[in-house]
Amino acid sequence: MTLSPKIYVAGHRGMVGSAIVRQLLAQGHPAERIVTRTHSELDLTDQAAVRAFFAEERPEQVYLAAAKVGGIHANNTYPAEFIYQNLMMQANVIDGAFRQGVQQLLFLGSSCIYPKLAPQPMREDALLTGPLEPTNEPYAIAKIAGIKLCESYNRQYGQTHGVDYRSVMPTNLYGPGDNYHPENSHVIPALIRRFHEAKINHATSVTIWGTGTPMREFLYVDDMAAASVHVMNLPQATYAQHTQPMLSHINVGCGEDVTIKELALAISQAVGYEGEIAFDTTKPDGTPRKLMDSTRLRSIGWTPKVNLQEGLRQAYRAYISAL
Ligand SMILES: NC(=O)c1ccc[n+]([C@@H]2O[C@H](COP(=O)([O-])OP(=O)(O)OC[C@H]3O[C@@H](n4cnc5c(N)ncnc54)[C@H](OP(=O)(O)O)[C@@H]3O)[C@@H](O)[C@H]2O)c1
Repeated sequence: MTLSPKIYVAGHRGMVGSAIVRQLLAQGHPAERIVTRTHSELDLTDQAAVRAFFAEERPEQVYLAAAKVGGIHANNTYPAEFIYQNLMMQANVIDGAFRQGVQQLLFLGSSCIYPKLAPQPMREDALLTGPLEPTNEPYAIAKIAGIKLCESYNRQYGQTHGVDYRSVMPTNLYGPGDNYHPENSHVIPALIRRFHEAKINHATSVTIWGTGTPMREFLYVDDMAAASVHVMNLPQATYAQHTQPMLSHINVGCGEDVTIKELALAISQAVGYEGEIAFDTTKPDGTPRKLMDSTRLRSIGWTPKVNLQEGLRQAYRAYISAL
């Protein structure tokens, strides 16, 4: 009998890492073949500690879902921490994995590392074609370096050591484990919180910044986790057929975007808020449209399962149960 591979999920207490663990367990992967460490048990910016961890545990697959992440305010306030910590974490994990003979690793990028003015929908080949959004440039540069680390290890050690390190580029994610901080959260958790508070306080109106017309794409985090496991386990020939050695990442989106107004309405329904939704059109809108081109992902046989309404209901349920 062959044992299931020993899998290390880095960042298993984060929104994406915890969804990857849930997904692996749901697919029947034995819990004792999943290795995790909390941040306080293993600081991934510490190279010696990371090397010692790999030597001790010797995993066979690695999902790299640990990162320092944050909104515009945090990225603008702590740019040194964002670039330094992300560069260190990914360099330590990728090189530490390589030194212990790990052949399969999945790195998580982000749609925000594409150029600010990338043509929509954003294809994989838009990477490195133009200036980045200045507010998160340090974070994006670190993430781009992570993708290039994977590609470079493949190119140098693919033939000799069987190294096969892959990258996925998720769109905006939401779901259980999201960050609901009042000032520093993404649009879906921020609106879930605001509509929930409006509901319990019997507020008659909730005002949202901007015109409500910008369009955004959202993917439920368990779908992202399923896509990650799918990409990790693709036969090497299939992955190679759909990527290039120096353009190897795969966009992970649902392929459809909604206006902020449609999103707000869907969230209010998931929460059960029945008051008015107003838009403060004196406030800025941001980019008119942000959508990933997920053709590559579709062509390797993966499609999302959870639609926005269902995902929002699940996210709200998780939010309430964590209160
Ligand atoms: N959320 C999204 O919408 C989204 C969209 C696109 C891409 N992604 C990507 O998905 C990945 C995971 O994001 P997420 O939303 O799951 O973030 P998250 O919820 O903040 O989780 C990140 C995890 O990394 C851990 N971590 C951070 N610094 C560490 C360190 N020095 N040593 C060890 N562990 C450390 C954190 O632990 P502590 O909390 O204990 O520090 C946390 O468990 C990131 O690469 C992100 O770019 C996310």
